[in-house]
Amino acid sequence: MRYTFGDSLSAAERLRRIAAFFDPLAADFIRKHHDAAVFRAADLGCGPGYSTAMLAEATGAPEVVGFDQSKSFLKDAGMRFPHLTFRRVDVCQLPNDEKFSVLYCRFLLSHLQNCEALLRKWLCHLVPGGRLYIDELESISTEVPVFKKYLEISDRLVSSQHADLYVGRKLPAYCQGLKVLSASSDVHPVSDSLAASWFLPNTVGAWKDSEFIRSAYGNQEIEALMGDLEAIYTESTTQSHITWTMKRIVLTN
Ligand SMILES: C[S@@+](CC[C@H](N)C(=O)[O-])C[C@H]1O[C@@H](n2cnc3c(N)ncnc32)[C@H](O)[C@@H]1O
Repeated sequence: MRYTFGDSLSAAERLRRIAAFFDPLAADFIRKHHDAAVFRAADLGCGPGYSTAMLAEATGAPEVVGFDQSKSFLKDAGMRFPHLTFRRVDVCQLPNDEKFSVLYCRFLLSHLQNCEALLRKWLCHLVPGGRLYIDELESISTEVPVFKKYLEISDRLVSSQHADLYVGRKLPAYCQGLKVLSASSDVHPVSDSLAASWFLPNTVGAWKDSEFIRSAYGNQEIEALMGDLEAIYTESTTQSHITWTMKRIVLTN
């Protein structure tokens, strides 16, 4: 299935901006929870490779691979990070015989179905004592009308593909019966301008081609939203009226 927000240049630029904020937080999360040498690490749904480069740095693993289904993201990742390996793999069907000391996913489960079964499948790809790090969206809170509108549209778009943007809320239930080493909900305030800079590329890029958006919302409504986001973006304010809550879970086998 096509990734909800597409793999255009603007989608890659959006992921770069988001990674610049979340990479240091993710690296701290990973470093805090691994106590043994990591020989082989994989980044599931690596996109243009920023999360893979973060994973390589945080683990110090000699072999790090990024898996994604998008040819264009993989090409981009390979050019940007030539010291890392990127492969076209459906993360729902990891190659049978491959094992890793660390598996990591970020902003991936929000776009997939059958996540509960998937976590169990991924655990089978860990070496004994390996770690599965999950770094997924639990909620985004704001009272700013334009942000609320953007989030309502995104949520409906993801739901139309039978996935859950806020999958982090469901992860504790999905992890029942598994060996959970750590689970937290971490709240991160984001400046309004930065949030707008993450939202804008979707309205300009992915939404334009979406059948769902075209039928559910008129052009005028989307154009007005884009104008309002653009205004907040160009204002360059450091004020924050929006927070991201990430569900971070470490599993082992
Ligand atoms: C929101 S992006 C996250 C990229 C990266 N993890 C990051 O944090 O910057 C989600 C990525 O998952 C990929 N993806 C979605 N479903 C996939 C699947 N079944 N197999 C492999 N990659 C998939 C998309 O192509 C996209 O690059």
